[in-house]
Amino acid sequence: MQEDLFKRLVSHCKEYGFIYPSSEVYDGLGGVYDYGPMGAELKNNIKEYWWKAMVQMHENIVGLDSAIFMHPKIWKASGHVDAFNDPLVDNKDSKKRYRADQLIEGEVDKIEGKLEKEVEKARKKFGESFDEALYRQTNTRVVEYAEKARTIEMRLAEAMKANDMAGLKNLIDELEIADPDSGSRNWTEVRQFNLMFSTQMSNIAGEDGKLYLRPETAQGIFVNFSNVQKTTRQKIPFGIAQIGKAFRNEIVARQFIFRMREFEQMEMQYFIRPGSEDQWYEYWKAKRIAWHKAVSPAAKLRFKDHDNLAHYAKAAVDIQFEFPFGFKELEGIHSRSDFDLRSHQELSGKKIQYFDPEINESYVPYVVETSVGCDRMFLAILTNSLIEEQVPDAQGEDSTRTVLSLPHALAPIKCAILPLLKNKDELTDKAREVYERLRFHFQCQYDEKDAIGRRYRRQDAIGTPYCVTIDFETLEDNTVTLRDRDSMLQQRVHIDQLAAIVTEKTDMRKLLERIYQE
Ligand code: GAP
Repeated sequence: MQEDLFKRLVSHCKEYGFIYPSSEVYDGLGGVYDYGPMGAELKNNIKEYWWKAMVQMHENIVGLDSAIFMHPKIWKASGHVDAFNDPLVDNKDSKKRYRADQLIEGEVDKIEGKLEKEVEKARKKFGESFDEALYRQTNTRVVEYAEKARTIEMRLAEAMKANDMAGLKNLIDELEIADPDSGSRNWTEVRQFNLMFSTQMSNIAGEDGKLYLRPETAQGIFVNFSNVQKTTRQKIPFGIAQIGKAFRNEIVARQFIFRMREFEQMEMQYFIRPGSEDQWYEYWKAKRIAWHKAVSPAAKLRFKDHDNLAHYAKAAVDIQFEFPFGFKELEGIHSRSDFDLRSHQELSGKKIQYFDPEINESYVPYVVETSVGCDRMFLAILTNSLIEEQVPDAQGEDSTRTVLSLPHALAPIKCAILPLLKNKDELTDKAREVYERLRFHFQCQYDEKDAIGRRYRRQDAIGTPYCVTIDFETLEDNTVTLRDRDSMLQQRVHIDQLAAIVTEKTDMRKLLERIYQE
């Protein structure tokens, strides 16, 4: 694990106002975080990038903003009351609580880590003549590691599928898995734990008034299928997209904003004719990976098919991203058949169907879903962007520059306006004038505190792509220096050109175009 990068990332988020632990004055609340001023901007930009790519760029995808509270029967029909569980195991000595499947996956990660070390060693030894594919197929130790990892994964998937809690416990014992904290192997039995948070409606007593905080935004889309279809007159295939909060009582919330108890999802349900699901599943896999590749290096992204399908899924694949703690799920793409719409139709007694004029038939549509966590996307973007580099300072000495090389369109602040000196009214007045003009176009920040070099570094650290400096030449000819965050090069431009130049470089359009170049 790139522990160093991860630690730097967490402290950078706090120091520059991206993310704070929730309720920090009361020592925090596990698995819950608040987004600060820079974080709120970056998160909004990620959401805008998703919304535009999905809704604005597709005439057959429309948006929705459904309520978090929904009728409790929805969660019965969706299967979440009965099947949205994780296997829980306690360590009797440390009193720590774990997810049994994650403990077992941790063992698989360890074996895969050893395997990759062998491959790296061989790569160094054989140099240019190294045939990696052949080595992976033929080296006895590598093959053994791969087989061992695969066998554990298969047994884990089988036990999860069969709800076999005793099988999971056997695996933990056989693999001699120890508590990562205390090293103790003294485990309780494994049991199921439902992940939904519940609360009570004030005017209905007892079980009937028990409400759940939604664990996924998707159900709000399913139960609005007929409303949306009728009011928008969309024809199948068409999609409904939604961004919103979801809540899960995660047994182990960890790795910062990777696994939270309150988080945000960006989900799209694509309603299709039964029988066309394989084609649309492949279509959305390709579309979604292109969306990620426009903002992340291809080498940090990969597909991983699910061995263990969620209760609603007929096929599922994750888009994994290489976080500082390894490749992990960033987005899920699921072929959900007609499971949800049919269940709601049965439990509610209301017809949820579509009349397809092309084949003159009514049916319950099938669904292919794309679901990406906004917070995980935030963490992925930061992982890509946080860089420390050696650059010459004003005296020509080497100094460390921390820069957040965010995609321009996602940067919280697009342009900083900086008077060269703070105590010269003619400079600060002119800089204010430039700020007043530019803020109509994009998010700007006016900053006059500290030496100009320190102000540049502050803007680099929050990822501002452009800094405009107002100096004495500006007062004579209305030109300013425009500094580029990544190259640190400065060019002199006229004030009248600033809005157009910065807009051109930072507009969301640029990112959207990149998706289609993939
Ligand atoms: N509607 C389908 C669904 O909810 P999921 O794979 O359980 O599928 C989708 O979740 C995405 O939501 C994940 O790929 C992940 O990005 C995000 N997500 C899930 N649980 C999360 C958590 N506890 N904290 C942060 N993000 C989470």
